Amino acid sequence: MLTLRSARADELSALSDLCLRSKAVWGYDAAFMAACRAELMLHADELTSTHIQVAESADGSIAGMAQVKVTGPDAELSKLFVDPGRIRDGAGRLLFGWAANTARDLGAVRMIIDADPDAAGFYRRMGAQIERMVPSGSIPGRMLPQLVVRLGG
Ligand SMILES: CC(C)(COP(=O)(O)OP(=O)(O)OC[C@H]1O[C@@H](n2cnc3c(N)ncnc32)[C@H](O)[C@@H]1OP(=O)(O)O)[C@@H](O)C(=O)NCCC(=O)NCCS
Repeated sequence: MLTLRSARADELSALSDLCLRSKAVWGYDAAFMAACRAELMLHADELTSTHIQVAESADGSIAGMAQVKVTGPDAELSKLFVDPGRIRDGAGRLLFGWAANTARDLGAVRMIIDADPDAAGFYRRMGAQIERMVPSGSIPGRMLPQLVVRLGG
């Protein structure tokens, strides 16, 4: 049983570590992970400039996290990472639902996701559609599928 709550300032370092561990599940090598590191770090100012949510088990362990940023009609799902030991156990769906609802409540009409290629199937399962390929923010020359989910009222 998972519950959702807002992220706290004192756990941003632990959440950044979770993002790195989670990203590594796709088998990337050390050089790739080093190149991704800066993009996966969470900073204190993001607690006010974005919305960050944690999925927590009854025992207090963190199963995953999501971050969404809303700018007018567009929302960006900046991060969605599930702890490696908790993948395929519903945390991703729960956090994705939170992100979409939050974006909709804040007035966004679509949510955009620059996805890891191995995660694209999950986002399609959640109702998003691949719209185009976009450059990775971390790895020069790497292209990522960009998916969009329409946030109907
Ligand atoms: C992608 C990710 C967030 C999915 O979270 P999850 O908790 O494993 O997903 P869930 O258990 O909630 O799965 C929900 C549904 O999506 C499906 N699904 C999950 N991962 C999938 C994948 N990689 N490809 C296709 N379908 C997938 C599940 O089978 C389930 O289907 P159902 O509707 O038949 O039950 C998780 O695998 C993860 O954190 N991966 C590593 C980090 C990463 O790549 N994050 C995304 C960055 S863009």
